[in-house]
Amino acid sequence: MMYIPTVCFVSLLVLLACGGCKVTDNWSSSAAISSKQTGHWAIVIHGGAGMLDKNMPESDKREYRESLERSLTVGESILKAGGTSLDAVEAAVRVLEDDPRFNAGKGAVLTRDGTCELDASIMDGRTLKCGAAAGVKTVKNPISFARRIMQETPHILFAGEGAERLAAQMNIERVDPAYFITAKRREQLERKMQEIEAAKKIAASAASRSTHDYYPTGTVGCVALDLAGNIAAATSTGGMTAKMPGRVGDSPIIGAGCYANNLTLGVSCTGTGEQFIRHAIAHELSSLVRYQRCSLKEAARIVLTERLDPDDGGLIAIDREGNIVMSTTTGCMPAASADWRGNRKFQMWVDQ
Ligand code: GLY
Repeated sequence: MMYIPTVCFVSLLVLLACGGCKVTDNWSSSAAISSKQTGHWAIVIHGGAGMLDKNMPESDKREYRESLERSLTVGESILKAGGTSLDAVEAAVRVLEDDPRFNAGKGAVLTRDGTCELDASIMDGRTLKCGAAAGVKTVKNPISFARRIMQETPHILFAGEGAERLAAQMNIERVDPAYFITAKRREQLERKMQEIEAAKKIAASAASRSTHDYYPTGTVGCVALDLAGNIAAATSTGGMTAKMPGRVGDSPIIGAGCYANNLTLGVSCTGTGEQFIRHAIAHELSSLVRYQRCSLKEAARIVLTERLDPDDGGLIAIDREGNIVMSTTTGCMPAASADWRGNRKFQMWVDQ
């Protein structure tokens, strides 16, 4: 007679443990690491969560879309031709790094010293291998450097002087630091520094200022699922305008700004790096899918609205079924996606 109440109690515990997430079907680790052609591919890119003006000229909106289109098409063609998700994410992110519109590579935001310090990471969901670079000043395409670090060293993350030396040893393409700096970013820095000075006068100490004040806009990223069922993710950024020299954000931190695991998903994050590191957002998303059996959409909602604060940022992700999310709480995140079903989406502003 005790049996029925006990079953009910256990069921209740399971439901509570699921935290309201819908249990995903077809879950088994044996199905997770695929090596056969599935016929399914998917790709999603982002150009950074932020606060772009909805009233920007139509020509600017068109140019944003064309930039995204260029990056998406490069990644998409690789996947359609049977290439790897790693090749696709690296190639798509390189296009965005070369585009001064975004805060990565050329056109990256400036530190308060007026210099560029670039961060990037890449992860292979099949092997869990990953590579990352932080604070590099002369590497033209940090995402390609991150991939070489993943493939050619026993380590994961290189920073500063040692990273520069390794890039030189690897014959990675390097440029004069002036290559990255654009007039727009100089103006942004000047404005930001004036705001910081004004805030100081109103008695706000440097320590009490919100990290939101640093314009975390324009980080780029890509996630892809290839025909072999393998997921990869990549993220690249200049960080935040007027950041302190030496500051490193979430983008090169595996599990914070980037993560990929064939068992669950790939994800690239954008926003206030400190928050994404603090809550290990990229890995948290994967864990919600893996252990709480949340759908990708529900897991994204939980990390963005229950772990992070409003306006902290956004993310793009693809799960192993090829489901895609492009979500942000900032109201704006240029992003685009395509998949084997013929879906093709572009977004700039997102209803909150
Ligand atoms: N999410 C980019 C950064 O905080 O550096």
